[in-house]
Amino acid sequence: MSQRKRRKARQVEVDRHLLYQAAVQAPTADIELFEEIYREHRGATPMALREDFCGTALISSHWVSSLKGRTALAVDLDQQTLEWGRKQNLEPLGRRARHVELVHADVCSVRGPRVDLACAMNFSFCVLKERPLLLAYLAAVFDGLREDGVLILELYGGTEAIVAIEERREVDDFVYVWEQESFDPITHETICHIHFELPDGRRIRRAFTYDWRLWSIPELRDALTEVGFSDVAVYWEQVDEDGDGTGEYRRTDREENQEGWLVYVVGLK
Ligand SMILES: C[S@@+](CC[C@H](N)C(=O)[O-])C[C@H]1O[C@@H](n2cnc3c(N)ncnc32)[C@H](O)[C@@H]1O
Repeated sequence: MSQRKRRKARQVEVDRHLLYQAAVQAPTADIELFEEIYREHRGATPMALREDFCGTALISSHWVSSLKGRTALAVDLDQQTLEWGRKQNLEPLGRRARHVELVHADVCSVRGPRVDLACAMNFSFCVLKERPLLLAYLAAVFDGLREDGVLILELYGGTEAIVAIEERREVDDFVYVWEQESFDPITHETICHIHFELPDGRRIRRAFTYDWRLWSIPELRDALTEVGFSDVAVYWEQVDEDGDGTGEYRRTDREENQEGWLVYVVGLK
């Protein structure tokens, strides 16, 4: 590869994580929700977090900055992405960065140190497409939780989640494009991509590609129960009079299906 190409490749690498974080992550809101859910069930403030499939460990870096004494274990298989997170998200924290432990490992093999709260955000556990693999992951997290620990899994679904579709959204000065390329009704396997369109006209096609199994809420509930979680709660987004999402989530047992929903499936140890 020529030096110019290498520089360009590096530039795209840097850009895609920054763009991803700006487009799909909201660590402050996530942490508020984690605290609310944990307090509702345990009457306490969670201090130790495990961020599975952490990517650039953005949530962990905000977590240890959000309250003195907080610690985070951030687990991901991709060393390059972890390194990017160390440089861009942890180094700016200075001494506080010591409270984040970046773990380069398969989430299914990490059983400790034990934490109050574990999370798998942005549907990332859907990469575990076989049920035995999903069970292995949930069992590992179960072991990695303290006695009153809580696991939060973010999942999407709805009638438009199972069709080929492309959605565009303006974020700051760029456009974020979410493409659902395919969905197989027999296996529930889905291929999705994230593309970016930059203000200078540059397009980053397939900045990220996901090859997932879109698990259903009842499948997750059964699997969580099977590995030992004593209760499973589903948090659904509340809507205002116009039917728009408010960003507030409440525990609920029954809902009507929607074109698109995003929920938190919560396993209580
Ligand atoms: C969709 S990204 C999620 C990034 C971030 N957690 C978020 O919420 O936006 C999925 C991440 O999962 C990681 N990953 C995939 N399989 C994994 C596994 N078995 N163990 C640990 N990390 C894994 C990938 O390397 C990638 O960084």
